[in-house]
Amino acid sequence: MAFITSKEMFAKALESDYAVGAFNVNNMEIVQGIVDAAMAEKAPLILQVSAGARDYAKPAYLRKLVEAAMEDSGLDIVLHLDHGADFEICKKCVDDGFTSVMIDGSKHEFEKNIALTKQVVEYAHAHGVVVEAELGTLAGVEDAVSVSERDAKFTNPEQAAEFVAKTGVDSLAIAIGTSHGAYKFKGDPYLDFERLAAIEKLIPDTPLVLHGASTVLREFVDMCNQYGGNIPGAQGVPEDMIRQAVKHHVCKVNIDTDLRLAMTAAIRKVLVENPAEFDPRKYLGPGRTAIKEMVQHKIRNVLNASNKF
Ligand code: G3H
Ligand code: 13P
Ligand code: ZN
Repeated sequence: MAFITSKEMFAKALESDYAVGAFNVNNMEIVQGIVDAAMAEKAPLILQVSAGARDYAKPAYLRKLVEAAMEDSGLDIVLHLDHGADFEICKKCVDDGFTSVMIDGSKHEFEKNIALTKQVVEYAHAHGVVVEAELGTLAGVEDAVSVSERDAKFTNPEQAAEFVAKTGVDSLAIAIGTSHGAYKFKGDPYLDFERLAAIEKLIPDTPLVLHGASTVLREFVDMCNQYGGNIPGAQGVPEDMIRQAVKHHVCKVNIDTDLRLAMTAAIRKVLVENPAEFDPRKYLGPGRTAIKEMVQHKIRNVLNASNKF
């Protein structure tokens, strides 16, 4: 087993009707829950680390946790930097042994995004590391109700083609209506599948990435609220829409919020039902189990519903 790049797994996913799950990790129980699920489902796996995760757990701890998971499970794992904001953090992660980095230049003007992404691609490729970039703004439909608003925020297919040609990036995160967090849509969920089809027609060899792809599973929102939480109105991307997206060229599906909700719901339940409990293993353990079960459900019924891994 080894840290691998996503090159081969994306090449296979591009040809098929499934996507690889990319799950955010912040501590040991989260890593273990996800890896247990991937083992049970024999699934390809990307574990991703954000700048916030690096600040919280310290880079060395996260890297060693993922190494331990690899050793314990025997799985090959892609270790990916999520939303690298600048060249320096991408370089640091390449130097630290990550096999994949994301340079998120989506907040910059088109030409600046190209220049920044190109700089990261040159460094990463010289070190055998693959690069994901982002074009377009991740915003829910509440922020983009009209066609012109969508055109302004969502990924422009022609620009995507130019961007990939000029940067040599390995995969591209696109904006088609998803957003980060637990409040993705105010009204009915909507993803711009026409735009997705137009993008993949122009760049058929580029694996696409869907950020903000959590479903915000009702079960966990209700459980959080039942046990003292207060997260009304949370809404994610329905599983059917993710199933549809992975039949297109979406090869990587990013999930963090669903992990957070599953873990928090399980922990809240234990603490409310057992107010005298103060052994962290007694609530972090159920948190880990909830993550494992949720990730397994997602792999089996959403990411790999076509059973083609
Ligand atoms: O894209 C955002 C991920 O959910 C990571 O979130 O920056 O709070 O770690 P974070
Ligand atoms: P969610 O907030 O929908 O889980 O998205 C996570 C993500 O895109 C991480 O990069
Ligand atoms: Zn993201």
